[in-house]
Amino acid sequence: MVRKIKISPSILSADLTNLGSAIDILNQGGADMVHLDVMDGNFVPNITFGPAFARELKAVSKIPFDTHLMITRPMRFAMEFIEAGSDWLTFHMESYDDPVNTIKHIRDLGAKVGMAINPCNPFSDLEEYLPELDMVVIMTVNPGFGGQKCMTEQFSKIAEARVAIDRLGLDIEIEVDGGINEHNVGDVVRAGATVFVAGSAVFRGKRGPAGEIAALKKAAGI
Ligand code: DX5
Ligand code: ZN
Repeated sequence: MVRKIKISPSILSADLTNLGSAIDILNQGGADMVHLDVMDGNFVPNITFGPAFARELKAVSKIPFDTHLMITRPMRFAMEFIEAGSDWLTFHMESYDDPVNTIKHIRDLGAKVGMAINPCNPFSDLEEYLPELDMVVIMTVNPGFGGQKCMTEQFSKIAEARVAIDRLGLDIEIEVDGGINEHNVGDVVRAGATVFVAGSAVFRGKRGPAGEIAALKKAAGI
């Protein structure tokens, strides 16, 4: 089965003083989605963007928003981020809200729903939710910051997800998030991922974001 592989650059690593041009580059530079890392300072030891920021950014974006909620209470902010323009809304299995209610809430609001799992947790903890999801996000860093080293031992979890999704005959995305670059993205795709997030590899590389996206896509075989 040929799966379309997609790139979702994380703007957390972009030049935050010039985000309009970063979005312009993503609009023209071959990105499939914009990955928006939302952090609340509780679920992870960092604070980033709120709904108003997402709304402003979406107004100048031509590509879907892949919003990643690293927050303790996704039920509290799901509506605001979806109304701000999130096309995909991913929450963490480890968050404090009930996963089934959260999935239903996000779907009822009209967004595609993703569930993320941290490196410390086994894929088996997430498996029961697969039939209700549009995407599963395998974290290959401990969430909270861009520019971290990829935890490649998590690649076996990608393969596990691939086997489980295919066995259930589901059509859901496997996104991999954290430390992805042109040296490991091929392994990630071969393990069965269909979306990869790249922040520092896109925005901190020598070739400029459009050049880095092209290099990543080439390494991913797309
Ligand atoms: C980490 C975030 C990731 C991160 C990706 O908590 O969820 O999306 O920003 O950035 P890189 O690709 O630099 O690891
Ligand atoms: Zn993320």
